[in-house]
Amino acid sequence: LPSAHTITLTVNGTPVQLQLAPWTSLLDALREYLHLTGTKKGCDHGQCGACTVLVNGKRINSCLTLAIMQDGNQITTIEGLAQKDVLGQEGLHPLQKAFIEHDAFQCGYCTPGQICSAVGMLNEGHAKTADDIRELMSGNICRCGAYTNIVDAIQSVISSQPDTL
Ligand code: FES
Ligand code: FES
Repeated sequence: LPSAHTITLTVNGTPVQLQLAPWTSLLDALREYLHLTGTKKGCDHGQCGACTVLVNGKRINSCLTLAIMQDGNQITTIEGLAQKDVLGQEGLHPLQKAFIEHDAFQCGYCTPGQICSAVGMLNEGHAKTADDIRELMSGNICRCGAYTNIVDAIQSVISSQPDTL
């Protein structure tokens, strides 16, 4: 590719080098080049939140940023949220568990974005009430209308483990 740029991203803890056309979105870099298809493409123009990932711990719509703009950054996708315990066993992130326990999805298409966005929101530290959650998660659309259970799932994590996320 004559106009390809070489960039390095740390994706879910692993440094990867990619050669990409400069117009490649971060979303396409993740899905098409790294085959991390947990991150979903809904609208591809910043309106649905299905493509939400974390960049250096902050949530971002990956369809709205070019991969080359993230050169050198740490990217976390839904595949990277599970955590290893002291024995090296992988366990789901508390928000992933809570979404299952509260039945917070139907088709599941919005779910990776909902969960990554919720992790970012909890990192921001402003969500205290159900109303806060509804407001601060309003960029993540659920076509199935699972909002009540999504809010319940997030609220359960806020009230059970406020210091461990
Ligand atoms: Fe990025 Fe819809 S696919 S916001
Ligand atoms: Fe289907 Fe949210 S669970 S779009």
